[in-house]
Amino acid sequence: MSKVRVAVVGCGNVSNKYIPHLKQSPYIDLLAVCDNRIDYARSHAETYAIAHYFDDIDKLLAAVKFDLLVNLTPMQFHAPYNRKGLEAGRNVWCEKPIATDLSEAHALLDLARSKGLGLWGAPNSPASPAFQCMASVLASGEIGRACVAHGIYGWSGPSWPGTAWFYKKGGGSLFDLGVYNITTLTGLLGPAKSVVAMAGAAIPERIIAGETVKVEADDNTALIVDHGNAIYSVIQTGFVYGAQREDWTIQVIGTSGAMTLGGFDWAPQDVSVYSGDRTLSPDGQWKIRYQSNYDYHWEGGASYIAECLAKGEKPLLSGEHAVHVLEIMLAALNSAETGRREQIESSFPWPLGN
Ligand SMILES: NC(=O)c1ccc[n+]([C@@H]2O[C@H](COP(=O)([O-])OP(=O)(O)OC[C@H]3O[C@@H](n4cnc5c(N)ncnc54)[C@H](O)[C@@H]3O)[C@@H](O)[C@H]2O)c1
Repeated sequence: MSKVRVAVVGCGNVSNKYIPHLKQSPYIDLLAVCDNRIDYARSHAETYAIAHYFDDIDKLLAAVKFDLLVNLTPMQFHAPYNRKGLEAGRNVWCEKPIATDLSEAHALLDLARSKGLGLWGAPNSPASPAFQCMASVLASGEIGRACVAHGIYGWSGPSWPGTAWFYKKGGGSLFDLGVYNITTLTGLLGPAKSVVAMAGAAIPERIIAGETVKVEADDNTALIVDHGNAIYSVIQTGFVYGAQREDWTIQVIGTSGAMTLGGFDWAPQDVSVYSGDRTLSPDGQWKIRYQSNYDYHWEGGASYIAECLAKGEKPLLSGEHAVHVLEIMLAALNSAETGRREQIESSFPWPLGN
């Protein structure tokens, strides 16, 4: 089995999480890094013993033969660099979101398909053993038909230097945090048909590195997702959460049981299951079905895709799912503004892995 040749563009915070993960994979040759700050790229090449470094993605694509581009640049470069990678015949893994504009996201998927390439985006939570456990509980029917779910995930929000953009248009808690629960709950319950949402700025100003920032994007968001056949999930997220219980953050309730995810879907701890109808047979118990041994990492998405490419296996993640989640988020923000229920047009292969 030949190794998958990988190059990373964007040598900022997240790259310091991704690169050690890529380096330890037996399926990957990490050949090059690129950042418009050449000092960042050079420093990564030295620190992580990477052969090539560049200050321009076009130079990277022209000079190095590789199979998978890992795009860790700021959001505004996601779509244009994903396009450059695909046009140059590379598979692409991109940090969230895959694009900020829905029609461009669809165009990128079409481009990937036309070239026989893969395009995938974070988050990689459906590849986690916790997600797999929950999906198999649902498939087995042991909690009956799952019609109800909720997920909640927030914190007090970024405040370190350089993070003002989180509070500006195009930032917001939904795109930064809500994306995880939306990926997980559509992955478990199926594609969304429509969404209604409320989103607002509950804290009108933030202090970032001593500067006052006027908040323009959502810092408190709630959405109800209709998965069809009267199956609904409720997702809440925000930058106004001083504290949150972590013993479970996602619950899926079936007609004859329920299950919860402990920890967060990007750092899961355990899955607990209650089988049976609590009213009709009240002697049932919550039982831990999965306990993390810390072998899943949110920063492992590109390594996972490279492993699938090396083994010729179909990933549990898909570009279609990432685009569907983007459509839900954009529709939720529209719904919050108009007060209308928004229809969702896109879909993705579901159940995952089929
Ligand atoms: N920071 C986190 O905890 C986190 C977690 C998950 C996902 N993400 C996502 O990962 C992506 C990167 O986040 P980050 O925190 O690493 O950001 P960052 O700002 O620390 O890093 C981005 C890097 O890209 C480089 N860059 C900027 N423009 C470029 C260009 N035109 N060409 C090449 N390189 C360019 C910058 O110099 C910088 O080194 C973002 O989309 C973010 O939403 C971040």
